[in-house]
Amino acid sequence: MANTIVVGAQWGDEAKGKIVDYLSDHVDMVVRYSGGNNAGHSVTVQGVEYKFHLVPAGILHPHLLCVISDGVVIDPVILMQELQSLQARGISLSNLKISGAAHVILPWHRLQDELEENARGEEKIGTTGRGIGPAYADKAARMGIRMAEFVHPQRFAARLQTVLAHKNRLLTGVYGAEPLKAENILQELETAAKWLQPFVCDTALLIHNAASRHSVLFEGAQGALLDIDLGTYPYVTSSHPIAGGACLGTGIGPKMIDRVIGVAKSYTTRVGAGAFPTELLNETGSFIRERGHEYGTTTGRPRRCGWLDMVALRYAARINGLDALALGHLDVLCGLDEVNICVAYKDGSGNTLEDLPSDLASRTDLTPVYERLPGWHTDPAEAAYWHELPQQAQQFIQRVQDLLNIPIATLSVGPAREQTILMRPELL
Ligand code: IMO
Ligand code: MG
Repeated sequence: MANTIVVGAQWGDEAKGKIVDYLSDHVDMVVRYSGGNNAGHSVTVQGVEYKFHLVPAGILHPHLLCVISDGVVIDPVILMQELQSLQARGISLSNLKISGAAHVILPWHRLQDELEENARGEEKIGTTGRGIGPAYADKAARMGIRMAEFVHPQRFAARLQTVLAHKNRLLTGVYGAEPLKAENILQELETAAKWLQPFVCDTALLIHNAASRHSVLFEGAQGALLDIDLGTYPYVTSSHPIAGGACLGTGIGPKMIDRVIGVAKSYTTRVGAGAFPTELLNETGSFIRERGHEYGTTTGRPRRCGWLDMVALRYAARINGLDALALGHLDVLCGLDEVNICVAYKDGSGNTLEDLPSDLASRTDLTPVYERLPGWHTDPAEAAYWHELPQQAQQFIQRVQDLLNIPIATLSVGPAREQTILMRPELL
């Protein structure tokens, strides 16, 4: 196998969990490297659905070591509950490791997320409200508390005193909110701290050792266009979902990465606010939403739906250095007479843009240029091989591959493990 990064190539929710699960048989370790419980990764095995927020989807494979690494921000109560519910379903946690360097999402982060969103008014980002942005901001401001401190009662109590004094000045002075009490926080988090303590260790060396055997799968969260630097800022998350984030979030050098696989849907979705040139605010958009069950795993919000945007996907391929694409949700488009692919944007002056502009978030003059392809009416959900796909679906896939100029390694025709068509096994 190879050290492989599985990365979202759109605005998140590309079904990365399914690909991670699919590839897990061939590695020794799966690492979640960024984001927090803003993520929602669903995996369906033998008709049973598992939803992950912080735990790597690899946990369903007992032979694997599963790591939540430095780049992740952890809400301890949410993580404990997620682990307990997995345990209750008979999943072993004996192979789980949590980095002591991962930052903790604390009650003021969730509060700040809500207060900041309210203060933005019309310019709301539409965050998941999980405290992700404020937790990463505190990490950068060197005011964060890390897991190693959090699970150590005296160290946590001492750090809490210092940090909370500052936070309460912010909450009361800027937002006019009630101050938080240290003793309440300690009480609220005591059980989670004790419960998580045995899993916490130094993970950088562990990951390095597994990576030396070329046996690590890096599970991305969110998507390339939500990256804090390279995404559609400011409508982004606060971490680095892109492939480069796997190095930052684990302590692995870039030369140890052998392969980057991008995951994309056959159409585009976005949750929250921000530019979305191919968005369909019509019946076709609703058709995709209903057929694709496009409602958030984390927040239940309806996702915005639109045609596949090759300008955005090509950009994602470039900034991630994609070796291959895992293209999914082909079954969802079944039933449409026509399927469109956005191949470029036209700007307000009539110029054609083939590359994603860095100021996309603030551009209101861009309209998509579409290629129109015939749709398919035979559901490909049962197809196990390329030749079993409707001919129009084959034509669509071929066109996506040509426009992207990157090979498609797998096709997904439904949420189940076996609803995966293997195109290029040598690329996995
Ligand atoms: P997975 O891993 C889709 C979006 C939010 C919002 C923006 C900022 O399931 O693909 P945040 O709470 O992170 O500060 O919100 O980012 N967002 C996601 N959208 N999938 C995700 O994760 C997302 N995680 C964050 O909707 O627009
Ligand atoms: Mg999701």
